[in-house]
Amino acid sequence: MGRLDGRVALITGAGRGQGRSHALTLAREGADIIAFDVPDTIASLEYETASGADLKETVAGVEALGRRILAVEGDARSQQDLDGAVAAGIAELGQVDILVANHGVLSIDPFWEMSEQRWTEMLDVNLSGVWRACKAVAPHMISRQRGAIVMTASINAFETQAGYAHYNASKAGVFSLMKNVAIELGGYGIRANCVCPGATNTRIVDWQGLYDRLLWPGAGAGDLMDATKHWTALRGRKLLDPQSISNAVLWLVSDEAADVTGVALPVDAGHLILPGYNGTPAEI
Ligand SMILES: NC(=O)c1ccc[n+]([C@@H]2O[C@H](COP(=O)([O-])OP(=O)(O)OC[C@H]3O[C@@H](n4cnc5c(N)ncnc54)[C@H](O)[C@@H]3O)[C@@H](O)[C@H]2O)c1
Repeated sequence: MGRLDGRVALITGAGRGQGRSHALTLAREGADIIAFDVPDTIASLEYETASGADLKETVAGVEALGRRILAVEGDARSQQDLDGAVAAGIAELGQVDILVANHGVLSIDPFWEMSEQRWTEMLDVNLSGVWRACKAVAPHMISRQRGAIVMTASINAFETQAGYAHYNASKAGVFSLMKNVAIELGGYGIRANCVCPGATNTRIVDWQGLYDRLLWPGAGAGDLMDATKHWTALRGRKLLDPQSISNAVLWLVSDEAADVTGVALPVDAGHLILPGYNGTPAEI
């Protein structure tokens, strides 16, 4: 018997990375899945979003576990796309019990050099897209007087990172949105929480411009992996495995967390408890 037998979960950004891992983890526990991901690339990014082939791989993985899955190509910047995913999911799979609003993008720039497009797209995808996903499921969950929502924020909801002004603002916004969703839906028996991953081994942190700007020009994937051992308190951790984040998501949406709402759970191997360090102190 699975912990999510008979439930249906809508997961945004399910084409790859953490979203695919969440889909497989929830399916392993008995849930059917609505996998939502964007078909087109996003203009202001320096890496590609998931492809149609990526989404098909998620579908194959869930089906191999004996669960049903509905793949929906759509953009979290469109309320119509998210409403359509919910309607199609209800028509095909019966209901939506769980929302994992996981999709997200990353770009890096000093805030004063950032283009209007880069700022606007970040907020539109990472923050407004999560609001739209919640808006899409809320009336259905209210009518059923049940539901569990997890929004993927980040350790960057709480800490600074130079070049991340728009990303940090979006994730702090998700944390704030989550508290509002939790208080507005609590009376209907619906829970809302955030998971806050630390640096995790997925494509969002695997592109040359990120290595150049977070480490040094010409650095690569191996250098980032090496550097991340300094980003955790726990021994032997580097970039985290997406499964680690999925385990937390699974707990948050399961009945084991029936009394948990309005919390932001870091899964960061102790990153947020590390003491601060100024790498570029101003000379007097
Ligand atoms: N990997 C990390 O280090 C890290 C750390 C903290 C938080 N996060 C957050 O975790 C979440 C998952 O990211 P990931 O690490 O799996 O990276 P990823 O790039 O592999 O996955 C992000 C997914 O979101 C999808 N997506 C992007 N824009 C979309 C849109 N407009 N509509 C629908 N789907 C869209 C992408 O196609 C992709 O499948 C994101 O919210 C990210 O900000 C990641």
